Amino acid sequence: MSSSAAIVGASGYAGQEVLDRVLAHPELELAALGSDSLAGQAATALDPRLARSHAAPLPAFVPNDEALGAGADVVFLCLGHEEAAAVEPPGDAVVVDLSGAHRLADRALYAAWYGWEHPAPASLAAWEYGLPEVSPSRGRLIANPGCYATAILLALAPLRDAIDPAAVLVDAKSGVSGAGRVPRTSSHAGSVLENVTPYRVGTHQHAPELEQALGFPVCFAPHLLPVRRGLIATCFVRPLPGADVLELLTDAYAESAVVDVLPEGTAPELARVQGADAAELAVFEDAATDFAVVVCAIDNLGKGAAGQAVQNANLALGLDETAGLRLAGVPV
Ligand SMILES: NC(=O)c1ccc[n+]([C@@H]2O[C@H](COP(=O)([O-])OP(=O)(O)OC[C@H]3O[C@@H](n4cnc5c(N)ncnc54)[C@H](OP(=O)(O)O)[C@@H]3O)[C@@H](O)[C@H]2O)c1
Repeated sequence: MSSSAAIVGASGYAGQEVLDRVLAHPELELAALGSDSLAGQAATALDPRLARSHAAPLPAFVPNDEALGAGADVVFLCLGHEEAAAVEPPGDAVVVDLSGAHRLADRALYAAWYGWEHPAPASLAAWEYGLPEVSPSRGRLIANPGCYATAILLALAPLRDAIDPAAVLVDAKSGVSGAGRVPRTSSHAGSVLENVTPYRVGTHQHAPELEQALGFPVCFAPHLLPVRRGLIATCFVRPLPGADVLELLTDAYAESAVVDVLPEGTAPELARVQGADAAELAVFEDAATDFAVVVCAIDNLGKGAAGQAVQNANLALGLDETAGLRLAGVPV
């Protein structure tokens, strides 16, 4: 029997990508399409391709509160951080929150890194940080990791005890869809095209979730790329004597259908992960400095958001972990 799914905040980039995965999912049925900005309109108001992508007509948009209360088995929260923090999760549904509102266990970190007091700090303990390959959640309230955090943790989590924690540097770059659909000056074409800029260096909100997961802080410099989607994280680490970084990563992901550790000499590429829910990892040695360089490429909207959210939902619902994910194919 299929499980029912509701999407809250479906008109944003993350919401639209979740909708795409839900429609392709063999065991999920769309029960409610929530959007405050599109409430009352047909699904095709979001994208005309929806008219031909599904045999049965899709439900029209309803306000987010209505989608939340629709009684779905799984709810995907695709709202901004502060809006998601204010949501009361329905009683017995699996809820996957794609925002940062429930990722941090320490309430004080919200004021420090997000700039607002968490409205429901007592609820934070009920949520689990669900990175399926590293820390699969066991409960029904799942905080989906941030896009940068996903790539960086896939690269670093298996190395936690095998590297010098005081010398971890990350240079990461994301396509502009990482900033969401709501227009901002910094994501305006005039600022982004023909340009690459670092931003929020030392203040990015994914830094505390990295420290929470790894047990030590990393020096993290995000950059904005002039492409629509895709994210690449280049992580510089100093292995402890005797540590074999490639072996640790290969072992960690040997059973994964989502994370590929590439053969030596093959580099991760943005183009190969764009539009997909897979991750590519590779290791390079810099013999002159004794640094190992671990590179991870994902799609910020795939493994970095919607793909991972559906993967988390699959695990929580007892479904095939990769059902509905986009993992196959060799598009140019
Ligand atoms: N973008 C990414 O790569 C990415 C990756 C990982 C996590 N996330 C997280 O996922 C959540 C949603 O991100 P997003 O990228 O989908 O953000 P977004 O495109 O800005 O959408 C966020 C919300 O804004 C509303 N919205 C959409 N278009 C709008 C418009 N033109 N004017 C006003 N409001 C509009 C939508 O709510 P209604 O439908 O209710 O109107 C939507 O849920 C965020 O918490 C984000 O941090 C995003």
